Amino acid sequence: MDIAWGTDAELTDEQFYNRDGEILWIKNILETTSKGSPPTIMVVGIRGVGKTVLLKKIKKELEDEYLVCYTDLSATSGYQMGKLTEMSIMEDLFDFWVKEFRGKRFPTAHKKLSKLLSTKNYGLREIIDVGGYPVPIPQSEDDYKKLSKFVLDLPQKAFEEHSDKIKGVILVIDEFQVLKDLGGRLDAFLWFLRSVIQNQKNVAYVFSGSLTSTDSIIAKIAGGEGAFGGRMLNVEITPFTEDTVKSYLEEKLPSLIFKEDGFNRFYQCTKGIPYYVNTFAKLLKKDDPLGDKEVKDEFYRTLPFLAVDLINQWGRLSLQEQTIITKLINEPLRRKDIAEKLGVTTGSLGGPFKKLQERGLIKSQDRVYTINEPILKAWLIKEHKDKGVFPFRSI
Ligand SMILES: Nc1ncnc2c1ncn2[C@@H]1O[C@H](COP(=O)(O)OP(=O)(O)OP(=O)(O)O)[C@@H](O)[C@H]1O
Ligand SMILES: [Mg+2]
Repeated sequence: MDIAWGTDAELTDEQFYNRDGEILWIKNILETTSKGSPPTIMVVGIRGVGKTVLLKKIKKELEDEYLVCYTDLSATSGYQMGKLTEMSIMEDLFDFWVKEFRGKRFPTAHKKLSKLLSTKNYGLREIIDVGGYPVPIPQSEDDYKKLSKFVLDLPQKAFEEHSDKIKGVILVIDEFQVLKDLGGRLDAFLWFLRSVIQNQKNVAYVFSGSLTSTDSIIAKIAGGEGAFGGRMLNVEITPFTEDTVKSYLEEKLPSLIFKEDGFNRFYQCTKGIPYYVNTFAKLLKKDDPLGDKEVKDEFYRTLPFLAVDLINQWGRLSLQEQTIITKLINEPLRRKDIAEKLGVTTGSLGGPFKKLQERGLIKSQDRVYTINEPILKAWLIKEHKDKGVFPFRSI
């Protein structure tokens, strides 16, 4: 089957569909790196819309001419252990970039790195050897600054060392939204990042994450007052249109047959989000014309598969956070109404609301809150219907 699973991060050329315009636009802008004026790009879009696979495709296409590194911030050890700090980010980036450079045609020799690390500029004394490359161990706030500078300078250094072979370096930093975990220190971190990046003549940065243009972190980065204000180019990846989904499925999965109202229902269920389009299409019965009712029934039956990621997220919420979501199932509410329903003060809901919004599970517009993930909502309704209660965490 020429259709990827929703969890595949790297698609074959046969599996990858559409997005010609976005790819061309991003590639053209990235090409300015070769002229010594590298861009900073922010690729945003809702969960499952196809940001990661798009970036990996662009990486593949530019890899011959550029040194392209893809980093997933959510896969860093600091984040995974729930202890994301500026220091852990730098350590993880260092670890990752050095390995990537070595894996490519750009081995940065162990001796050279060690020497660089201990030269006057950086002066990091504690350096240990891990699997054949030097790992600096920062021990103080001062060390952190030195290490950060060193790590962020590495890509430009890699370029200078190999400028005869490459046109520039492109760093893709995905799952940027996890930086929200830095909390109050996020701003300072972004300004620091910017101050280093802006002096690099041959390194382009592509940030990406499950964010939308209305997200507060976007304003902090790309807004007029933001750290990168004005300098950052934004591109939002949007779900597939109905026409795109139709031709996509006809081409890639001809054994999936819809009656007219069946397709309409399919689009309504998946909202054109490729993650759901692929997963749901793979699960549906083939070679049999599907109408509205069949698609609807199958949607409810397969919800636990479609919602896997969201169910995981749900499981990590506190009871209060879960309760807030369930209150929003039937109607959008203001914070005041929710506080009333929960019998608590509005003030005490600040934390939970912030977390739910940061995770993209709820959103507010004109001070009214709604559930941001229709599939999560559908799953909760199904659970309630099947079992009579919401799947609250057991306390
Ligand atoms: N252009 C495409 N052609 C075909 N399938 C796609 C395309 N884009 C995305 N998909 C499908 O959607 C899935 C999710 O895509 P991807 O992981 O890139 O989303 P994302 O926007 O990075 O999501 P997240 O915000 O959760 O990281 C892919 O594994 C693939 O199955
Ligand atoms: Mg992604």
